[in-house]
Amino acid sequence: MKQLKVAVIGLQFGMAHIEGAMGCGAEIAAICDSNEEHLRFAGERYGIPAEKRFTDYRELLHRDDIDAAVIAVPDQQHRELSCAFLKAGKHVLCEKPMALTREDTEAMIRAADESGCQMMVGQICRFTPAFEKAKALVENGTLGDLYFLESEYAHDYMKIVDNWRADPLRHGVIGGGCHAVDLLRWLGGRPAGGVRLRHQAAAAPGALRRRHRSGAEV
Ligand SMILES: NC(=O)c1ccc[n+]([C@@H]2O[C@H](COP(=O)([O-])OP(=O)(O)OC[C@H]3O[C@@H](n4cnc5c(N)ncnc54)[C@H](O)[C@@H]3O)[C@@H](O)[C@H]2O)c1
Repeated sequence: MKQLKVAVIGLQFGMAHIEGAMGCGAEIAAICDSNEEHLRFAGERYGIPAEKRFTDYRELLHRDDIDAAVIAVPDQQHRELSCAFLKAGKHVLCEKPMALTREDTEAMIRAADESGCQMMVGQICRFTPAFEKAKALVENGTLGDLYFLESEYAHDYMKIVDNWRADPLRHGVIGGGCHAVDLLRWLGGRPAGGVRLRHQAAAAPGALRRRHRSGAEV
């Protein structure tokens, strides 16, 4: 089988993708980060030579030594970079959330359809053993017909410092809650009845703490 040549763009969480691609036997054809320090750090950490390091993703679009691109930059740029790589004929693995608006997600789906390339969104929970088990229990009929599904996602946003994460468009239900929503849809399919989402923001650090029966705060 041909060895897949992968470019990884955005080198913070994106470093996990370098490890994942290497672990699957893919070649890291290029890495890219607009922050030179992040680029240098990842390059040295994974032994990626200088000629495969880039600060501008546009330099990668028309290289024929790249089959697929991993987009691990802030959510606000997912549409721009995913569409650019798809239009250049590269397969795309885009980090979650796919995008922050319906218009952007539809543009990405259109670009994928028109390109004939594969696009996947990094909903990593689907590859977690406990959730894989739940999926198997649903599919092999052990749980019978599902009539109600509920999921919770908790994240301490008080510690978030990146400006792009504080964007009001990146509502908690979209930013992190997309894991919970995606799992519900993956396990349960398209709901026949209603869907209800609830987003609860803590008023102050520690506001979500509860006292355990033992007396300890959790
Ligand atoms: N699947 C998951 O569970 C999971 C976990 C963490 C983050 N993420 C997603 O991964 C993405 C990145 O998150 P992060 O935590 O690494 O963010 P981050 O802000 O820590 O890092 C983003 C990196 O992208 C670089 N960058 C920004 N714009 C760029 C551009 N145009 N070209 C090249 N590099 C650029 C930045 O310099 C930075 O190094 C986000 O979409 C986030 O939602 C997913």
